[in-house]
Amino acid sequence: MDTAQLIDGKAVAANLRKEIAEQVKLRSEKGLPAPGLAVVLIGEDPASKVYVGSKVKACEEVGFVSRSYRMDVETTQGDLLALIDELNADAEIHGILVQLPLPKQIDVQSVIERIDPKKDVDGFHPYNLGRLAGKAPTLRPCTPYGCMRLLKAYGIDPMGKKAVVVGASNIVGRPVALELLMERATVTVCHSKTQDLPAELADADIVIAAVGIPNFIKGEWLKPGAVVIDVGINRLANGKLTGDVDFEAAKAKVAAITPVPGGAGPMTIACLLQNTLEACEAMEAA
Ligand code: GUN
Repeated sequence: MDTAQLIDGKAVAANLRKEIAEQVKLRSEKGLPAPGLAVVLIGEDPASKVYVGSKVKACEEVGFVSRSYRMDVETTQGDLLALIDELNADAEIHGILVQLPLPKQIDVQSVIERIDPKKDVDGFHPYNLGRLAGKAPTLRPCTPYGCMRLLKAYGIDPMGKKAVVVGASNIVGRPVALELLMERATVTVCHSKTQDLPAELADADIVIAAVGIPNFIKGEWLKPGAVVIDVGINRLANGKLTGDVDFEAAKAKVAAITPVPGGAGPMTIACLLQNTLEACEAMEAA
């Protein structure tokens, strides 16, 4: 194999954002309000600040109402839950996103479960996860949703393929496995206790890498002709961003691969906008 096709997440995300902006314009012409997203950031985690900044900017660019809430790293769980209650009751807000990770005094699960499932644009609430597990998705986790949209945009149908997900997090690994299963792939989920990862990957037609360790997955472990979606965004000591897959080695072997940056990352944000629009429309239809 010479060199892999690059899966251009930046371009696919730009198209989706354009479609969303058109929907917002149509809504406005009909006298309907713009979808509204509230983003909550607690503490000073530098990566979280960057992600939240990108989410707010993306909202503004498509014409959404965007509100951002900054809370101190010492914020109590009670204060955060009170803010969520306010946002749940706020008619201008259709989506609520609390950026993770949270400081240790706050119980993540309580926060996720306090968000009205209809406004849970992260798709992390047990109601939305349960709907996805039952093949009747409502609001879907953004990164997995973005991975599926990327595969679709490139005409890659998971049906009957062997898909290996590396990483079993609540944010990516588990929900993306449910997405792939819904599309009738044969799905294997690997994690830190997996005994022989290269053996699991050797016959994988689709690989979703979501471990958060730079260049963890070696090119030689991949099957020739595989499709690789690299969800990792790791910052190296020299400041450069890199994925979970050894990109240069993989590129020489696989059929298609996402670059980092410019692959799965932009899709996550575009899918957050898509979810906010969907949440807004679902609330109006109810
Ligand atoms: N932290 C890393 N990824 C995510 C995400 O998709 N949503 C939220 N809320 N926090 C994150």
